Amino acid sequence: MRNILVVVGSGMKSGNTYRLTDAFCKGAEEAGHVVNKVFLGDKKIVGCSGCGACQKNGNKCSIQDSMQDIYPSFTQCDTLLLASPLYFWSVSAQTKAFIERLYAISKEDSYPHRDTLLLMTAGDDNFWTFEQPVSYYRFFTKALGWTDVGIYTAGGCDGCEGNRHIDEKHLTAAYKMGLSLS
Ligand SMILES: Cc1cc2nc3c(=O)[nH]c(=O)nc-3n(C[C@H](O)[C@H](O)[C@H](O)COP(=O)(O)O)c2cc1C
Repeated sequence: MRNILVVVGSGMKSGNTYRLTDAFCKGAEEAGHVVNKVFLGDKKIVGCSGCGACQKNGNKCSIQDSMQDIYPSFTQCDTLLLASPLYFWSVSAQTKAFIERLYAISKEDSYPHRDTLLLMTAGDDNFWTFEQPVSYYRFFTKALGWTDVGIYTAGGCDGCEGNRHIDEKHLTAAYKMGLSLS
């Protein structure tokens, strides 16, 4: 049984990324995992300022924003799921800010181990649509010594012009991914 911290780096609670994540979580919960979902769209999290205070004062970040509420959840989880819409061929700014702020928990560039997953949605559906963020995700998780246990990318989603839509096939795939997570 896993304790999964699910970080949804989208601005829309009714959006494609949130729905994709919900489908995954349903499967994961049915499989017996504990899911703690955090929606960054209603949080205020800025990027790391690089002040270095966290490295001198017991890993406490000096920036007083919503990330302070998320650090305890990160400490408790064994698995981290990052969910993000594709924004300008990358993860969203909210997602990137969350990742940067994890610096506060590092000790001499060493991070406590986590298994990780990535879920993404995008308007385009080319073979290269998710190349940049997937490459980034693989790179930084490996650099932190973390273990990737799953990636799902949902291309061809309709966007923010009033007709948001994610195909049922993606929701089914994400649900099955959660259900089959060991
Ligand atoms: C600011 C912005 C940038 C986007 N950039 C891309 C992009 O680079 N490539 C792409 O295929 N879709 C892009 N999209 C479309 C979204 O990735 C897509 O609609 C996604 O499913 C939205 O997720 P959400 O409903 O969770 O907000 C962009 C949308 C916005 C609002």
